[in-house]
Amino acid sequence: MSPDRPMVAVDRENLTFRVAREAFVSEAILAREYEAIFDTCWLYVGHDSEFSKPGDFVSRSVARRNLLVTMGTDRTIKAFFNTCPHRGATVCRERSGNAKNFQCFYHGWVFGCDGNLKSQPGKEHYSEGFARSSHGNLVPVPRLDSYAGFHFVSFNADVEPLADYLAGAKEYLDLISGYSESGMAISSGSQEYAIRANWKLLVENSVDGYHAVSTHASYLDYLKNTNGGLSSTKLEGISRDLGNGHAVLEYSAPWGRPIAHWIPLWGEEGKREIDAIRTRLVERHGEERAQRMAQKNRNLLIFPNLVINDIMAITVRTFYPQSPDYMLVNGWSLAPREESDWARKFRLSNFLEFLGPGGFATPDDIEALESCQNGFRNFRLAPWSDISKGMGKDVPSYDDELQMRAFWTQWNRRVSERGTTAAVASRSIAATVTAA
Ligand code: FES
Ligand code: FE2
Repeated sequence: MSPDRPMVAVDRENLTFRVAREAFVSEAILAREYEAIFDTCWLYVGHDSEFSKPGDFVSRSVARRNLLVTMGTDRTIKAFFNTCPHRGATVCRERSGNAKNFQCFYHGWVFGCDGNLKSQPGKEHYSEGFARSSHGNLVPVPRLDSYAGFHFVSFNADVEPLADYLAGAKEYLDLISGYSESGMAISSGSQEYAIRANWKLLVENSVDGYHAVSTHASYLDYLKNTNGGLSSTKLEGISRDLGNGHAVLEYSAPWGRPIAHWIPLWGEEGKREIDAIRTRLVERHGEERAQRMAQKNRNLLIFPNLVINDIMAITVRTFYPQSPDYMLVNGWSLAPREESDWARKFRLSNFLEFLGPGGFATPDDIEALESCQNGFRNFRLAPWSDISKGMGKDVPSYDDELQMRAFWTQWNRRVSERGTTAAVASRSIAATVTAA
């Protein structure tokens, strides 16, 4: 059911934008989010590079649903609900690998990579009608599509085409996929951790340039003390609303980037490597685009919960709420296939050092998010969070809060739409925030 009170309050005259803290603590809001957001939007499920030959598969939980994504013998990638059509057991209990068949452990039904039932113990006891039907096949997820190597599913058969949904985010997916001559690939292994906070706090945090200098002061000090950053390079840049709730920060920063921003810590060998990567980028993309690829960092949010942080490494991250104050996070590292061992070493060390759950940034961020969640216990008496920074500016800075307003505006539109009597009141509220 849609909320019966405004969750987002916008005052255009005084340029303020506030979000009700109830939205971070309410079970009813969480149920509405699953209904109006996770069950209707496009959601990231995996990357092209995870499927290179027939039989390659990943099993993954997406919005509390267990999915099995496979490459069939015809090299088509398909997504199925990872639940046996017989009586419901999980069919594939491995996370990833290569398989000709998948056998359900409960009664032994066997499925091919195309999801079709291949054999079942006691087949002679089933009717011909059953054999002619598709009742024994794995059920496909209603929609699966990809853009620039990123695969998305939707549980909503009527969802708009993926390319329309992605809107301005396509430019950034193209930019990132352009780093590689042979294709970007997920490095093996993933980060998995939980945060005792509402999932929208991590949305905000993932595209929050404002907190970098204070929350991550120890990392910036560490860079300074280890020659791990260029002291002449400041954090500066812009934020952009990319439409449909997607947003990005694009900015320069002191740290090194394997594509392709050198720092003194990497020495002469590193300079040669980075210069070579840059030369190839310029050949393929021209000076201006190559410069942007190499020098600028990007924190990209694709609504509702795909974050691609293209910073000192590239992290692809999703997160789903288990309850209003608890989320599960998954993170993967993305890199050019042709990357040298040298560059891969620094990339992976950056991936762990800053972005990992035991790194410089993530524990500080988790502390901040859990502290906010704790503060929301007072939501009845201290009911609002403020997200007004930079409102009304023509070109918002990377450390303004436009990107969060883009997310919240879309969030509010979706949770307020459709349905119940309560939605009638909130629909007019949604209408007031469409162009925040
Ligand atoms: Fe899978 Fe019975 S539940 S074979
Ligand atoms: Fe952070």
